[in-house]
Amino acid sequence: MCGIVGYIGHREASDVIIKGLKRLEYRGYDSAGIAISNGELQISKGKGKVAILEASLLATPIKGTLGIGHTRWATHGEPNDVNAHPHTGNTRKFAIVHNGIIENYDVLKKELQKNGCTFIGETDTEVLAHLIEEVQRVSKADFETSVQIALKQVVGTYGLAIVNHDEPDKLIIARKGSPLLLGIGDGETFVASDASPIIEYTNKVVYLDDDEMAVITRNGYEVKTIRNVKITKEIHELEMSIEQIEKGGYPHFMLKEINEQVDTISDCMRGRLQVKANDIKLGGIEPVLDKLVNARRILIAACGTSWHSGLVGEYLFEYLAKMPVEVEYASEFRYREPLIDDKDVLIVLSQSGETADTLAALREAKERGATVIGICNVVGSTIARETDAGVYIHAGPEIGVASTKAFTAQVTVLTMMAMKLGKMRGVLSEEKFHELAVALSEIPGKVKEILQQAEKVEEIAKMFTYAPNFLYLGRSYNFPVALEGALKLKEISYIHAEGYPAAEMKHGPIALIDEHMPVVVLAVTNHVNEKMISNIEEVRARKGRILSVTNERNTDVIRLSEFAITIPETHDCLTPLLTVIPLQLLSYYIAVNRKCHVDQPRNLAKSVTVE
Ligand code: G6P
Repeated sequence: MCGIVGYIGHREASDVIIKGLKRLEYRGYDSAGIAISNGELQISKGKGKVAILEASLLATPIKGTLGIGHTRWATHGEPNDVNAHPHTGNTRKFAIVHNGIIENYDVLKKELQKNGCTFIGETDTEVLAHLIEEVQRVSKADFETSVQIALKQVVGTYGLAIVNHDEPDKLIIARKGSPLLLGIGDGETFVASDASPIIEYTNKVVYLDDDEMAVITRNGYEVKTIRNVKITKEIHELEMSIEQIEKGGYPHFMLKEINEQVDTISDCMRGRLQVKANDIKLGGIEPVLDKLVNARRILIAACGTSWHSGLVGEYLFEYLAKMPVEVEYASEFRYREPLIDDKDVLIVLSQSGETADTLAALREAKERGATVIGICNVVGSTIARETDAGVYIHAGPEIGVASTKAFTAQVTVLTMMAMKLGKMRGVLSEEKFHELAVALSEIPGKVKEILQQAEKVEEIAKMFTYAPNFLYLGRSYNFPVALEGALKLKEISYIHAEGYPAAEMKHGPIALIDEHMPVVVLAVTNHVNEKMISNIEEVRARKGRILSVTNERNTDVIRLSEFAITIPETHDCLTPLLTVIPLQLLSYYIAVNRKCHVDQPRNLAKSVTVE
């Protein structure tokens, strides 16, 4: 969480930084700040979004061509003006912005207090600012050495950028566990937590790895470890474009991203799903295909929406490839003693490729000898780089905090992987493979048909805008979609919602049903349809309000529903790619009606880089 931007060059640093911070606001938006080094070290910061900081800089500009900025998602200390970054020590010699958590901050703080440091806020970052200052005071070391000595005392994670009053032409950044990259321009260098603030200036980037730092001056940059070993880094070329990170006429990124799914699902299959050749090519996992085909079992670890796609993956791998699968919350996986070894394969799913718990699960599994495959969206992200092999979902930048197009692209990749494995293991016949390949290739067109019903969903949303609770029910492949639908509503409209396997409703949630309770049922014409119809009857008998996502020929479901949204038919195992679309739209319109901040819901961040 938290976004960092830094700049050194010939432009007004505050312009570059404010623009960049706005692009990084998905990482946190409870306070923002900037430090410009121009002979003086000038800081402006405060509670609230980047726009508030921007307004205050308009009123009181800070000129200069070197600076750092931060948009915060609070961990230690409430969001207020004092806890906003940048932080300084007592002499205000260094200003620092930080993403991550300093786990031993309390021990360090007590030590520093004994030496006379006075703290004004509650953040762990302020400890770092004092620590660097204190190290320099005692050791008389230069700027970089002081940073290195200080960082060696730190336990925890950081992506950080530091400026120094005494060296106004130098910017130091360091990374351990929280992403940072350098953008290499012509006579200028950019720093950011991801590529979005950089792409309009340069497509040349250098990704910093853990325990590395960069010393950036007006003449260029030098990367070294915090133990002072110089490193030559590869310069990567970004493929992203500026259009991809703008709203393109939509009122919100979320709506844009929902609508993009026609293309993103196609992009994800392009060159991979070969209907004529009756094959699937996933180049990124070819080196580990043997391992995967012969794995004792597959484990999937992820968080949030990615965990929901993992659950769909479980059904897919078991049905299509006849392989045993376990899906884990990445955070739980790492904190128990997972029974995993070199006979197992772990698949980690992550849109951002930076989620701390998912990354930790990956490392844990690797240490135990398992092969780890990543399914990520962000190219060059830490998870993508640390896995043994992987498949990019090619959904393009996802900026709305509530994930939409990443979910469908992840499920598309999982479907292709399961089909490929099923075929290689001889459990999926050529005919069945072909039938599925054709059905999969038709999904984007069917998504388009569903999106054409957006107005109908918008009307339905009006009926339920002020409902205090929602229940989502699904079975089989659509149980994870029920979870995802409930999560989308919670995230952006702050309505309490629960997703449940429809049959489990009888074991608890049914007690909640009365005439005020909207119940969203995912009831498509499949082998569990009759059972879903019984569950709908049970809800109706208690006067619950049924809103169904169903097929046109499912006339019983339509008859029993107060509102029905119909979707085109497809193979049962592909239905999550369709049933989720109306649920995304429903949560979007309800959130808009409730005047919620759709793209930046309270308390959330898109990339959760703390544990
Ligand atoms: C956060 C985001 C969710 C996302 C989850 C996992 O909670 O708000 O939208 O699903 O993190 O993120 P990842 O990048 O690993 O998929």
